[in-house]
Amino acid sequence: MSSDSTHARRRETVAAEMRRQGGGVMLLPAAEERIRNADNEYPFRQDSDHLWLTGFDEPQGCALLFAGDGSAPARLVMFVRPRDREKEIWNGFRAGVEGAVAEYGAAEAFPVAELEQRLPGLLDGAGTVWFRLGHDPAWDGRVAAALRDLRSRVRTGVQVPTALLDPGRVLHEQRLVKGPEELALLRKAAAITAEAHLAAMRDGLAGRREYQVQAEIEYAFRRRGGSGPGYGTIVAAGAHSCVLHYRAGDAVLKDGDVCLVDAGAEVQGYTADVTRTFPVSGSFGKAQRALYEVVLSAEKRGIEAVRPGVTVDGLHDQVVRWLTEGLVGLGLLPGSVDERIADKGYRKYYMHRTSHFLGLDVHDAGDYYPGRRSRALAPGMVVTVEPGLYVAADDEGAPPELRGVGVRIEDDVLVTEAGGENLTEAIPKEPGDVENACVR
Ligand code: GLY
Ligand code: MN
Ligand code: MN
Repeated sequence: MSSDSTHARRRETVAAEMRRQGGGVMLLPAAEERIRNADNEYPFRQDSDHLWLTGFDEPQGCALLFAGDGSAPARLVMFVRPRDREKEIWNGFRAGVEGAVAEYGAAEAFPVAELEQRLPGLLDGAGTVWFRLGHDPAWDGRVAAALRDLRSRVRTGVQVPTALLDPGRVLHEQRLVKGPEELALLRKAAAITAEAHLAAMRDGLAGRREYQVQAEIEYAFRRRGGSGPGYGTIVAAGAHSCVLHYRAGDAVLKDGDVCLVDAGAEVQGYTADVTRTFPVSGSFGKAQRALYEVVLSAEKRGIEAVRPGVTVDGLHDQVVRWLTEGLVGLGLLPGSVDERIADKGYRKYYMHRTSHFLGLDVHDAGDYYPGRRSRALAPGMVVTVEPGLYVAADDEGAPPELRGVGVRIEDDVLVTEAGGENLTEAIPKEPGDVENACVR
């Protein structure tokens, strides 16, 4: 991906906001390649902030965005891996310093090897450095060394920056509200994810193993041009459905069990995040279906409730009420709905939150409590709605046919002026539709 007018526009917006907050320079490290073992690396994934601001998808180095002021325009400086014929034969193309300028909009670019020597000079006079301290100790050390170097030369007239700010307070506010290019990628991720979930329902019959269903899902992701899953694919058969962060393992799917699939395709860095729960036999048992209907109803009402002004906590509290009504109705919780909400008794079955932001990261950037108050949704934000109920396998108070049954239903919802648009609507979730998708 090369940088284009989209990234240039983002940088203008960020620089303008930086100027409003004191100006200076924003330093965004690129991700490093990580060794898996010996000289073999994990698949590379660019740092999301860096990718959002530059579109540059190579490891190492950093981007420096100078906010500019009345007399100087905003300016991008990049440190990148230089062109290297030998290394490119082994590991692939590099844009190099020439490409950083020609393709990615940098005013100047330097080889990574010059970073330590040049960084003090670049920070000299910046006033404010926007840098995420505590994210990567190596970068903390580099920035600290540059500041130390400037301080040691203060009598020569250098201007040591006096403020350190978190880039997130500008960048993450921007990332929270998706632009048209971002929504196009999320829609593509949603379409691919739809195909993958249908494949999972079709293929997830008795005798299959979780990893085989995972393979169907990730085959669909890659075949349609996604880079792969945007987070570890969950295929949870039987009682594994109650393990919130389970990954696809080797358990056998069995008739009578449910299979919970939480999987989303990543497309140019943007991920979908969708959960469906289907019956391995192709038909929900009576008790399973009753539990499923409670979750589905809360999920649909939750999506209906998405609109500008509703807070993330407000949405969660409503979903908690609907789920608790269902739990009391099913006899899984004693007493009244208000009592079980007040004493948080519902947490025995619903122990996670309802929504998170979605975008480049599955748990996307953005402050959930600006000014310590729950964030109000606004047009352009994308949130998940993902209620679930999980009946532990050893829950002796629950009917035997529900023990070890976890149900989660999760969709990705774009907040619009009018309310919400469910980007993952196409994936079946009505019990009859799910059963029809489970071709047996
Ligand atoms: N798949 C992670 C989540 O649903 O939040
Ligand atoms: Mn989620
Ligand atoms: Mn999920």
